[in-house]
This record gives sequence, C-alpha cells and structure tokens, in this order.
Amino acid sequence: MRDGGLNDPGIAGLVLDWYDENARILPWRVGPAERRAGMRPDPYRVWLSEIMLQQTTVAAVKDYFHRFTARWPTVADLAGAEDGDVMGEWAGLGYYARARNLLKCARVVTGAHGGVFPDDRAALLALPGIGPYTAAALAAIAFDRPETVLDGNIERVMARLHDIRTPLPAAKPELMACAEALTPQARPGDYAQALMDLGATICTPRAPACGICPLRAPCAARQAGSAAELPRKAPKPAKPVRRGHVYLVRRSDGAWLLERRPGKGLLGGMLGWPGSDWSETPQEEPPLAADWRLLPEVRHTFTHFHLILTVRAAMVDTGMVPDTGFFLAERDFRPSELPTVMRKAFDLWTGE
Ligand code: ADE
Repeated sequence: MRDGGLNDPGIAGLVLDWYDENARILPWRVGPAERRAGMRPDPYRVWLSEIMLQQTTVAAVKDYFHRFTARWPTVADLAGAEDGDVMGEWAGLGYYARARNLLKCARVVTGAHGGVFPDDRAALLALPGIGPYTAAALAAIAFDRPETVLDGNIERVMARLHDIRTPLPAAKPELMACAEALTPQARPGDYAQALMDLGATICTPRAPACGICPLRAPCAARQAGSAAELPRKAPKPAKPVRRGHVYLVRRSDGAWLLERRPGKGLLGGMLGWPGSDWSETPQEEPPLAADWRLLPEVRHTFTHFHLILTVRAAMVDTGMVPDTGFFLAERDFRPSELPTVMRKAFDLWTGE
C-alpha cells in the first residue's frame, strides 16, 4: 500500500475522521471541536508539553505539566525563574538536560523574540533544546503548519501501514518518507496529534487493536499478519554496570548535607547527595568523618548504563564542616526536588 500521497486524501481523511471522534483530552491540547470553533493552542503550553513528552509518557507528564503551568503561566514567567526552582520542579522526569535547555529556550524566546514563539520550523529549530522532531511538532500543533512529525508512535504506525520490515534505526529515512507523503495540507496540526493518539491507543506496541483501527483497510501489515511484530528493532548493545558511593548525612538540627551537581553532564544542575564518581571501581570518598551505617544498595538504570550505589548514612553534630556540599535546613529540603536515583537513596533513610 504505497499509493497514499499528497494527491490521496484517503489516509489522512480516515485518520482525521477518527480523531474527530476519539481525540484524547490532554491538558495542553486544543481538541478538534474547539479548533473548529476557532480556538488556537498556546505555543508555550505546546512547547512545554513536547519537551516534557520526549522520552516520557503522557501519564508521567500530566502532573508536571500542571505544576509548571500553575507556577509559570507564561514563557516570560518561566524565563524569570531561578534555575534551582526549575530543576527542582523537573526532578523525577529524568533527562535533565531537557530542563536546562527549557530554561535557556524560555530566556531566548523572552529576550530575543519578545516572549513570542517563532511560528515556523526553521526559526524554531534555532532555539535551544529544539531539534528536528520538536520543531516539526510545534510548527504543526501550535501553528498548523504542514510539517511531518515522526515520533516513536508514528514510526510504528508507518511501519505497519506500509509493512516495512527493515529494523529501526535503519528504517528511519524510509519511515520519514512515508510519513511525509501522507502529511496533509489541511489540518496538519490535528493530523499530527491524531497519529500520536492512534499510536498510543490503537496501534500499540503489543496487541494492536486492529479491529477498531481506522486504517485497518489500507494497512499492509494487517493484511500480511505482521502488525504485532513491527517495527523491528536492531538489538541494542548491553548496558554496562557502573558503581558509586553516596553519603546521606543529617545534622542533629535536622539539616541535610547536599550538593548541587555541576551544570553539565548527567543530572547536571540537580541536587544530590555527596559521593564518588560512577565507574567500575569508584573510590570511597566520605564528605566528612562520621560513624557510617551501611544501607541497602540503590539500583538505577540510565540511558547508557546500570548504576549500583552503595549508600552510607550518618548523623553528625552541628558544627561539622564537610569537605564538600552544604547543609540545607530541614524546612528547605524537599525530597521531591531530588532526581530519582538520589530520591531512591533518600527513601532508604530510617533515622538512627
Ligand atoms: N506525544 C508527544 N507529543 C504529544 C502530543 N502533543 N500529544 C499526545 N502525545 C504526544
């Protein structure tokens, strides 16, 4: 089934008709009926949602999205935020470079663009943290430009629709070409979101609901019986295991010993417990002399490696001066501002 092109409104029409009835209600979304009534999405909210949704599910993002937009209702509000406050609100979402770039981008949009997001793909692409996918998604969703949006969900829909057996990532150019050929001039923003919803709710990775899919007739994988096996994926290299040490220190007045990690790199800009580097053979580096208790290990998986942390804890008296980090008063310490791996260590703390 390769005849769907710009001259064939069939596929896009089927997808849009389905969306009109089945669009998910999402906090950043202007749904099809509202759009028809003339409502337009707020580019700030669309941008924020797209950054949050990279590598993260809709379910995980919703609460963060509500908290961010309640605290910083406009891009100018976000641009004026303290770095640490933004990193703290982002804690738990992971991929912290996204939050650092989010703030950079908000400041560029506010400083250089008068608080107004540029409305085309090329200008969006020039902003910090906005790559080809996000530029296309924003141009389509926020500004209804006929850009082709290809995220993981849409890759799956395209691979099945055309029964593409080439494994990912090698299949990406072919999938992009298929997606481009189908992108309609009419309602491209709704169309992009429709494909996302179709991939998330019907054309799911396992056990796709082909029986109720609007594309069941033209879908080549359905005809071939290959839908559930697509897209194929090249095997990923096994993740290495790294190890590290962290130290939970609480002062007798309730303050916690924390450090702000350097701005660049993994967990950059986030709060954390003092500790060693993460490697095959990390050295113990306690931040002060104390009577350490050994807690259970923490295990956490990052994109490129598994981490096993040895966790030690101690109570210390006021007046103790650490080699590294700073004591944060109990009333100023919010565990929710820790990245997940550091939060896991905190959750092991039982007091003395
Ligand atoms: N995934 C990424 N962007 C999305 C959006 N705008 N709506 C739904 N799911 C998405």
